[in-house]
Amino acid sequence: MTNKLKYFIGNWKVFGDFGSLKIIYQIHRFYVKFKKRHIVKNKIILCVPSTLIYFFTKKFKSKFISIGAQNCHHQKMYGSFTGSLSASMLKKVGAKYIILGHSENRSEGDTNRLIKQKIKSALDQKLNVIFCIGETIAEKKEGKTFSVLKKQMRDSIDKKYNSNNIFIAYEPIWSIGTGKIPKVQELKKIFKFIKGEFKKNFKTRSFPIVLYGGSVNDKNIRMFSSISEIDGFLIGGASQSSKKFIDIIKNYYR
Ligand code: PGA
Repeated sequence: MTNKLKYFIGNWKVFGDFGSLKIIYQIHRFYVKFKKRHIVKNKIILCVPSTLIYFFTKKFKSKFISIGAQNCHHQKMYGSFTGSLSASMLKKVGAKYIILGHSENRSEGDTNRLIKQKIKSALDQKLNVIFCIGETIAEKKEGKTFSVLKKQMRDSIDKKYNSNNIFIAYEPIWSIGTGKIPKVQELKKIFKFIKGEFKKNFKTRSFPIVLYGGSVNDKNIRMFSSISEIDGFLIGGASQSSKKFIDIIKNYYR
């Protein structure tokens, strides 16, 4: 069993309502008991729809669970950007983390340039950024995975940014919501590459925190737990149920 700090981060996407507070409560209750039995270091973060951030952070205080957002507008604290939310607004309602550059947002028009501005806005607000990168299946087949990841990192992170507050989430697009996952050897190489590139190019104290995301569930988590380079997980579908999310944590440490 590893004693390195591991992150279990839920990405609820467009799911959840006020009743979902019980999911947070159940995860908290499980975790209180779990901590009594296991000396492991980990952190739970739930990135929920913006409409729920304030409600969750006010209604239920858990020292084990932090709440995050899933996206923000790229400019300024306030402005004429109908329908958007700024990083400053999300911070004010209680978000501590924010997912940026998710492939679902990239497919709706988020470019590396835009993501770079979003990262800046979020860092200016002292939000921790979970920056998603990943290749398409076509890019993988053409052997372009490393060059795609390198470009996404270089084009979206300015060398001047304080990179200590940026987590990288490696999410191969072909794996998100499909049940398909990369092979262990592939992942080891990719994680080594991302950490090396990051350390070489950006202002950072140490190697970055690099997460894996894409079809993580309570069954395949055992396979991922054998890869020490992985610092945690960004979990989509399986984070929308407290049982599945709890089983992922339990099975990771089994
Ligand atoms: P998934 O989603 O776990 O449902 O594949 C991951 C994500 O989109 O972050």
